[in-house]
Amino acid sequence: MANTDVTGAEIRATVTVVDHPLVQHKLTLLRQKERSTKGFRQILNEIGMLLAYEVTRDLPLERVTIETPIQAMEAPQIAGKKLVLAPILRAGVGFLDGMLSLVPSARVAHVGLYRDPETLEAVEYYFKAPSDLADRTVLVLDPMLATANSAIAAIDLLKQRGARDLRFVCLLAAPEGVAKLQARHPDVPVWTASIDSHLNDHGYIVPGLGDAGDRMYGTR
Ligand code: URA
Repeated sequence: MANTDVTGAEIRATVTVVDHPLVQHKLTLLRQKERSTKGFRQILNEIGMLLAYEVTRDLPLERVTIETPIQAMEAPQIAGKKLVLAPILRAGVGFLDGMLSLVPSARVAHVGLYRDPETLEAVEYYFKAPSDLADRTVLVLDPMLATANSAIAAIDLLKQRGARDLRFVCLLAAPEGVAKLQARHPDVPVWTASIDSHLNDHGYIVPGLGDAGDRMYGTR
């Protein structure tokens, strides 16, 4: 599935590790096992906001004419249709409020997938998205890029509904997940706060932070 260039070399999507000190500091707080549900949710939200800032850094601008109280001027505004935030349920919702606080007009696509505990495969149970995905940049959100099964399934679904310009945003990634996502969707760049060591036999990221959904919702 990977793209190749004219020489036949594989083209892989870019991976950006967001090394901003605020993101790294907050990630350390999140990883700590004694962090409360309330604290976890709040910090995930804050990191979501900071990641939204980074992932939107290169959005195209257009110039529009406005009037200040003093005079008319040409000023930049983000070009094109509003972004779509596409959290993968349920842990992806942890990024949503933080991102919406920076991009309040964004549309939201909900992608309901759960991980079969035996096979670790993603199983779809809900999908609702704006109809004009083809005209919008879609940010796919999931704090954990582990096996990449959910990320791949979500991106498959969004592409089937027309999305062509997608970016994947996570908090932690496993090298195995990054490689698999890049191989399957080489056109989808990834933003993460960390690439951790590896996946364990249960599909958890090591050292990771445990089960993000359980820690967010207190459902352990
Ligand atoms: N999902 C999680 O919540 N945590 C992991 O470590 C891997 C997948």
